Formats: sequence, C-alpha cells, structure tokens
Amino acid sequence: MVIETPAARPANPRFSSGPCAKNPTFTLDKLADAPLGRSHRAAVGKAKLKAAIETTREVLGIPADYRIGIVPASDTGAMEMAMWSLLGQRPVEMLAWESFGAGWVTDVVKQLKLDATVKTAEYGEIVDLAGVDFDKDVVFTWNGTTSGVRVPNGDFIPADRDGLTICDATSAAFAMDLPWDKLDVATFSWQKVLGGEAAHGMLVLSPRAVARLESYTPAWPLPKIFRMTKGGKLIEGIFVGETINTPSMLAVEDYLVALDWAKSVGGLQGLIARADANTAVIADFVESRGWIEFLAADPAIRSNTSVCVKFADDRIADGAAFAKAVAKRLEAEGVALDIGAYRDAPAGLRIWCGGTVETSDVAALMPWLDWAFNAEIAAQ
Ligand SMILES: Cc1ncc(COP(=O)(O)O)c(C=O)c1O
Repeated sequence: MVIETPAARPANPRFSSGPCAKNPTFTLDKLADAPLGRSHRAAVGKAKLKAAIETTREVLGIPADYRIGIVPASDTGAMEMAMWSLLGQRPVEMLAWESFGAGWVTDVVKQLKLDATVKTAEYGEIVDLAGVDFDKDVVFTWNGTTSGVRVPNGDFIPADRDGLTICDATSAAFAMDLPWDKLDVATFSWQKVLGGEAAHGMLVLSPRAVARLESYTPAWPLPKIFRMTKGGKLIEGIFVGETINTPSMLAVEDYLVALDWAKSVGGLQGLIARADANTAVIADFVESRGWIEFLAADPAIRSNTSVCVKFADDRIADGAAFAKAVAKRLEAEGVALDIGAYRDAPAGLRIWCGGTVETSDVAALMPWLDWAFNAEIAAQ
C-alpha cells in the first residue's frame, strides 16, 4: 500500500492540552507594556491586576457580586485553597471522571480525611448526575481534560441547594457556558483555554461561598497562601488585585493580551464557536473512518476543548504502543506536538480544540492522522 504524505501542514502544530497554544495573533513584543521591575503594589501593578480581574468578569459574564481572585499555583492552587478553606462543615460528595478529579478525591479523602461520598466513572463517561446530593458540598470537574468529557450543562445543580458546589473549570472556562448561579466556587488557570501562562490561578467565589468563609473555620491549620479571611472577615483586597504574594507581572500582561484577543473574536460566544468548529472537524473525521473513535461515546458529554480519541482496529497488536508511535510520528513530522493521551488515561490521542487553535490547523491535521495511522499499521 502506498501511503501518501499530505500536501499541507498545520501552520501551528501546537495542540497541547496545557499549556495550550498562544492566540494566533500573539507575539512576544505584545508584552512590552508589562511593568517589569516595578512593585505589584505600585499603582501601575495594582491597575493591571484589577484589570485582569474585571476583564475576566466582563468576558465570562461573572455576576457583580461574585469575588474573583488571582491566587498562587495555577488551577491546582485555586482548587486546593478552596477545598482547604471551605470543606469540613458538612459532608462532601466527590465526583470524579478522570485523573484531575481523582486527584481532588485524594486531597479530600486522604489528606483532609473528610466524611466523603466518592462517585467515579470510567474514562469517557461521567457519573449519574441525577443522583448527586446537594445537601452536601459537591466537588467536581466541569471538563475532564484527560478523558475528553464534560457535564452537559448546570441543570443537574438545584438553585436552592444547601451545600456548596466547588468546580474545577480550568479546561471549560472561556470555551463553555458556565452557569454562575450554580457554581459557588469555580477555578481555572490562564494557561488553558486562553493560551496564557501558568503560575497563577483564578478563584471565583459566590456570595454563599464568602458567607461560608466568614462563618466557618476549618479544624486544620491553613498556610498563609491559602488564607482568605482575617478575624472572621474576607480579605477583600485579594479580590481587587492585592495578591497574597508576589505575582508575575509578565504573566499578568500576557493574560491581559489574551483577554483582549478574546474580546476581538467575539468574547465568550466567539470563543465557544471557535472551539465548537474545531471539534466539529474532528467529529466529521472520526465519523468517516472506521478505525478511530471518541473516548466519550456520548456526544452530550463530549468536550469541545480536550478532544480524546482512541484507535479501534483489529490489526493493532498493542494499543498503547500503537498510540504512542502514532503521536511520535506526528511530532517527528512537526505537524502535531504533545497530542499523546495523558499518562494515566487510556491509550489514544488528545487534540486540544480550545479557541486559540485555528480551525484551519485542525483541518490540516486530519489527513496526517490518516497518514500516521496507515504508516504505523504498515510498520507493525
Ligand atoms: C481538569 C484539570 N484540573 C487541574 C489541572 C491542573 O492545572 P494546573 O497545572 O494549571 O494547576 C489541569 C491541568 O491540565 C486540568 O486539566
């Protein structure tokens, strides 16, 4: 069999699921306005941090009475800060459908040692959302980056719940509609859908989450970088840009540039449309080939950012080795970087489809999947 090399290549081969591709207009000189060598507590630094918070609110449509903080340690820092500060007052229900959700389960069960009900699903599936008990605090991941699933919407969360909802939304924010009235805590990192830099996390708190912070003190000690209250009152400064410790003003500038770009493509709805268009290209491809399938079989819970596919062909002898070899071929050709499945996930490929990725690049990648698949079948 003659395996034809595709004529065209993606202009940008970066399909990593984090850090994700910079936006298509990005160049380093766009960061020239960063107040480097200045204090983040000087007026110029504070103004940048406040702009990062308020532009986030504008683009994501976060209600005016929700607090938004820039916190240390990327999405992980924001999630851990939330769990360590808020949990323990009432029983907890932990929902996990991939590696990161499983990591939050470990935190709650093994580190915090809380009374938790743990519900898990296999890769490619989510748990029965109808059975979730919202009298408890519920911790879940909106979009499972390592399995390519997401919750379909927020309808499963009742408006009149007693518990808090704590949502890791890092690969969902800026690509999916997040119902803020259903989320008491949402976290994300700049390095995901907007293609920003890691290091800082975003922590979004509803008024109910703030009420919990001000009325409940956990039984365990909290390190300084987790502390959001002083004398039983919220430290409001954190939510106007007075960060707990020193942020990178270069990363802040980069985030502001990314937000500007997001606005230029139509804001949140524009970003969602871009991610949907990217995912549709892969869906068309998968549908027209017998040897490739989505990890998430049900389109209702299929991600439009972290798109995970697996190989299904009787000729494949060793699934894991095959998938790795395909990813390696694509990387060696320089047409797709970092698209091997996550280390704990089932063998396959994970192609990031968030808004910073151009649809023309996803389309240009598809013939290369044919090429790499056929070449690897022949090489086995
Ligand atoms: C769902 C989810 N949660 C948490 C993380 C960790 O994010 P960070 O490394 O930005 O802390 C990731 C990163 O891929 C993720 O996809």
